[in-house]
This record gives sequence, structure tokens and C-alpha cells, in this order.
Amino acid sequence: MRVDPLTKLAITYGTDKFGYHDYTPNYYKLFKHLRNKPLRLLEIGVGGYQDADRGGESLEVWRDFFPEAQIVGIDIQKKEMDLGPRVQILQGSQVDPDFLADLVRDHGPFDIIIDDGSHQNEHVVTSFNILYPTLADGGIYVVEDVQTSFFPRFGGTLEMTQPNSVGFFAALSAGFDAPDRPLGEMQIAAVERFHNMIAMHRDASAKGPGPWLKTRAQEPARILDLCLPEAPALEVERLKNAHLITLRRGYKGEGAVVDGNPGSTRFLKSLIRDHGPFDVVVDRANSGDSAVAAFETLYPALPDGSLYLVKGAPGTAADDPAASYFADVFTQIDHREIVVNFPDAPINPLVRDIYALERITGWTALTKAPNDYPSNFGFDYQHPQALVAFEAMERVLLEGGKERGLLLFTDIMNRAGDTVRAAKMLKRLEKIGAATRPYYNVAVRQAKIDGDWDAALVMLRQAVELYPDDYRIQSQLGGVLSKAKEWDGAEDALRKAADLAPRDPLVRIQLANVLSRTDRAEEAVEQAKKATELATTHAGHRVQLGRLQINAGHMAEAAATLREAITLNPEIANAHRQLSRALHELGETDEALSVAAQAIDLRPDNAEYRRWQERLATA
Ligand SMILES: C[S@@+](CC[C@H](N)C(=O)[O-])C[C@H]1O[C@@H](n2cnc3c(N)ncnc32)[C@H](O)[C@@H]1O
Repeated sequence: MRVDPLTKLAITYGTDKFGYHDYTPNYYKLFKHLRNKPLRLLEIGVGGYQDADRGGESLEVWRDFFPEAQIVGIDIQKKEMDLGPRVQILQGSQVDPDFLADLVRDHGPFDIIIDDGSHQNEHVVTSFNILYPTLADGGIYVVEDVQTSFFPRFGGTLEMTQPNSVGFFAALSAGFDAPDRPLGEMQIAAVERFHNMIAMHRDASAKGPGPWLKTRAQEPARILDLCLPEAPALEVERLKNAHLITLRRGYKGEGAVVDGNPGSTRFLKSLIRDHGPFDVVVDRANSGDSAVAAFETLYPALPDGSLYLVKGAPGTAADDPAASYFADVFTQIDHREIVVNFPDAPINPLVRDIYALERITGWTALTKAPNDYPSNFGFDYQHPQALVAFEAMERVLLEGGKERGLLLFTDIMNRAGDTVRAAKMLKRLEKIGAATRPYYNVAVRQAKIDGDWDAALVMLRQAVELYPDDYRIQSQLGGVLSKAKEWDGAEDALRKAADLAPRDPLVRIQLANVLSRTDRAEEAVEQAKKATELATTHAGHRVQLGRLQINAGHMAEAAATLREAITLNPEIANAHRQLSRALHELGETDEALSVAAQAIDLRPDNAEYRRWQERLATA
């Protein structure tokens, strides 16, 4: 893979815009011509969520990619980091109109706005409605992660009605070149739809060749021009290296003039056979059903990287079949994510090869390339595109990655199970003297995976010295000390963790286990009870509480707790096993036996469960 300069920065600084996602190659195409301009860029969403000293990776990328730009990041959480004099971070919400008005007044108008914030559909639409009209002329507004339009927990639906954000942008791009409103109220000159992201170009005076033509201007192109014989000359005829197969009489340039019916499938197939493969197809002859039929005939025969242009659609007329066909394509670019939540949704098989759909005044342009990968390579580490991306990341990072870039990659490799690459990156991190909290997190996790508990302990002791107020580090230390049966140290660390994060149920469970191992059964039950109160629907914590109640001799309470756990999640074998134990102690022998059998049904390979059943049966 050829790594563009923006992607290289993304890898170096460790933003998930590349590696987990595949956004930066699109950003590079969108932004490369602006690189040395003194522009103003706003990004919604700094990253790092509630941790004040985490996040900011993408801001560093923008800062370095645009050396003359002023960069502003906003986040609903407080952020404390210094990214140099050209980067400012403000705290506020992307849906707070007063905050946004002040932001634009004091730091705008912005030339680039990127929404990588909450990804709630309603928020995306609200922010766009407030901020897009303030964008500088010629500016670009990008929304990331629009696949959340199809995720119910982000307010997404399959119906494309508001606040579904893809539906919102589809409707916008449908309307913007109606004859009486050349650019619509929003002054949108072009909409570019990529997998999981949408970019809007604001241009009050949009005219001249569309971006599709600009991208081809320097390259030799074999172009199929489907038109009527009397059609006017096509703009692409001016291209230096154009080789045109056209139905336009009177064409004198490189290529050929052919005669035929542009709506006939047989004729189109003969064009492919005799004159293809084409780099660009321009269909300005067909409309409605015949535009769809021509597309379905020609598009599959195009090579990767080619462009298909169709006049008008989508959305020029509500009852136009081509309009609704390409509007569906616009939506289904996120087909991988649509079927996750809506497995029966109809998907046009051609979208797997539609890399991008661009709406420009008067035209729809489709770029052919694979579009069959997940929103996040974490969902499919073995995907061929993921493997290529990981190789590129490794190469860039070994040349000169920064700590957070190395950390992101180590994390990805850990999760992907590639321990060799993860270890290589950790060595590099050690070499550059990494000592941040995320470093310890990743390095300790790796040591645990490797079973090197001594190394984990050494690192955690260092980390706890540096970050005594980090409950996650205290809790990890407690866990490792428990493993080593150093109960006093474990209890001390876990009590500190519980003081620092009194609402974290897992810390309570850890502490309860230590108390139980050191003969303080009642106290253990109290701590586990707190965990179940903090996470009322967590079945696993209830199983732990039930077990500790048995240890403390509270059999009836244990049975009740374990029954609750089974109601919440009947699939936890240990809940049945523990309930069987409590019932046995309560003298409910028959039920104890049948519950023991349920545990074995769930985990037939568990020898201990079988021994327990045999013991009950012979008792
Ligand atoms: C995915 S992260 C941003 C990552 C970062 N842009 C990058 O690429 O490295 C999303 C951030 O949006 C912030 N966020 C969530 N809701 C928000 C809101 N209503 N307004 C502003 N920021 C919000 C979160 O706190 C989180 O830090």
C-alpha cells in the first residue's frame, strides 16, 4: 500500500482515523489541495472521553498536515493538553447553539469542519444545521461514522427519515440541484459519500468542471461517452490524454465515433467487448429505467479506480426510477453495517464495489473500488484490506512512530492475537522511554497475556508511583497481587481503587474476592452486594455474590441471588452450579440435582460439574 502523507501522520500519532477505520485516504483526497493554506479547521470530538489528558491525536495530525492552519478542537469533556500555539481545545457540546455561536464568532469562519463527536444522529444533524451555514465559501464539512444511522443505540433506523443522518444528507443531496435552486439553501456544491463518511462542499459560485473531472485531468483516460448524436461536446474532450468512444457525431479527437442505441443492453455489451475496458463512463443519454439498466450492464465490467457518471439522479424527480435507485446506493454504501442491525434489508450487490458516490451539480459520479470491509477492522482482523493496512502501519511506526501511534498499533495487534508484532512494538515503546498511563495499560495487558506476572508486577509498581490516583492502575495492581496471593498488598491497592472510583462495580468484586480469601466472608458479601447495586443488570456480579453468600453460610439468600442471576442470563453455567450447591445445603436435593444437570448441559466438558453431580446422585 502506498501511504499518503496524511495517513502517515495518522499512523504516527495513533488516531483511529486509520488502522481501525480507513478514513485518512479519503481525507487526503479531500484536503491535499488545501495543505499550505492559512485555513481554520474545527474538529468536533477531541477523543479520550472522560480522561482529561487523553485524546488529541487527530488534532496533532491536522496541526502537522496543515502547517499554516489554526486548529480548534471541541469536546464535551474537559481536556488538559498542550498541542502547541496553533491548536486550541474548548469544552462544550456540539449541540449547544450558544457555545457554537461563540465558537464561530471567536475562531471562525472555518474552512474545514469535521464531526467526530457523539455520533448520535440527532446531534449530527443539529450540529450540521448550525455550523454548515457558517462555513467559509469553498469550505468542506465532513461527518465521520455515519453508519451509526443504522445503529438503534445511536438513534439510528432503517427508515431514512429524520433524525437518521444518512437520510438527512441523502435528502439534501437529492434537492440541491433542482432547476430553480442551483445549490439549494445550504449552498452545497457537492456531496461525497464514502464508506461511513460524508463530505459536503460549500461553494456559492460552483461552476466549471466537477471534482470528478479534476481528478482525471492529468491521467490518460479511456472514456465512453453515451449521448445522443447531436449532443454538445463533452467537457472531457478537452483532456490532454482523453481517448473517447462517443456516440456524438462530429467528434474529431483521439478514439472513435460509434453508432447505436445507448439504451440497448446488447449495444452496450458490444461497446465493452470492442472498445473497453473504460476508465470513465459518462451516461448523458439515458434516464429513468434505462439509466439504471445501462449502469447495471456497464458498471460490473469497469476496472477498479474507474468512474461512472450519470446525469442528474439521484433525486431530481421524486418519481424517477434512476433517482430512487441511486438514492438507495447512497444509503447502501454502508451495507456492511446496515445488515448488522437489519439482516433482511435489501442490498444492491453492486454497492460492494462502489467506493464513493459523489453528487455534483447536474451529475452523480461513482468511483469503482472494493467497498466490502467493516466499519472497524477490529471486527475482522483478517480482512485482506486490514492486513494491508496493518503492514503499512508497522512500516511507518518502525521508521518513526510516536508513543501513541505505537500504542494504538500494539493494542490492535494484541486484540488481533498477533503477539509477535505486539511484542516488537512494545520493545520500541520501551526504547523510546514510554511512561504514560496508556503505555502501562497496554504493556501490563501484554505481560499478562504472556503469563509474565513478574514483569506485570514490576511495571504496575512503577505506574502506581507515577499515577497514584489512577484507579485502573490500582485495580490492575490489586489483580496481579491477588494472583500472587499477596493478599495484604492486593487489599491495599483495591481499597485505594474503590476510594478513587466508588461507583466501579468490578473493583468491588475484586475486593470482595480478596476479603473472602482472607476469611472475612461477611465483609466480602457486603462489597459484592455493592457491586450488584451499582450494576443491577449484570448477571456475572450476582453469581459472584451468590458464591460469596454460600461461603458466608447464607444459603437462602444465596439461592435467591443466584436465581436472579439466572433470570438475567440463563447461559452462565456457574450460576446453575452454585445454585445447586446452595440448594443442596438447604436440603432441596431433587432440585439441586436438576440444577446441576443444567450446568452440565451448558458446559458438558466441565469435569468438576460432573463430579459434583455424581456426588449429589450418590449422597
Ligand atoms: C471518537 S472520539 C474523537 C476522536 C478524535 N477526533 C480522533 O480522531 O482522534 C469522540 C469524542 O467526542 C466527544 N463527545 C461526545 N459527545 C459530545 C458532544 N455532545 N459534544 C462534543 N463532543 C462530544 C467525546 O467526549 C469523545 O472524546
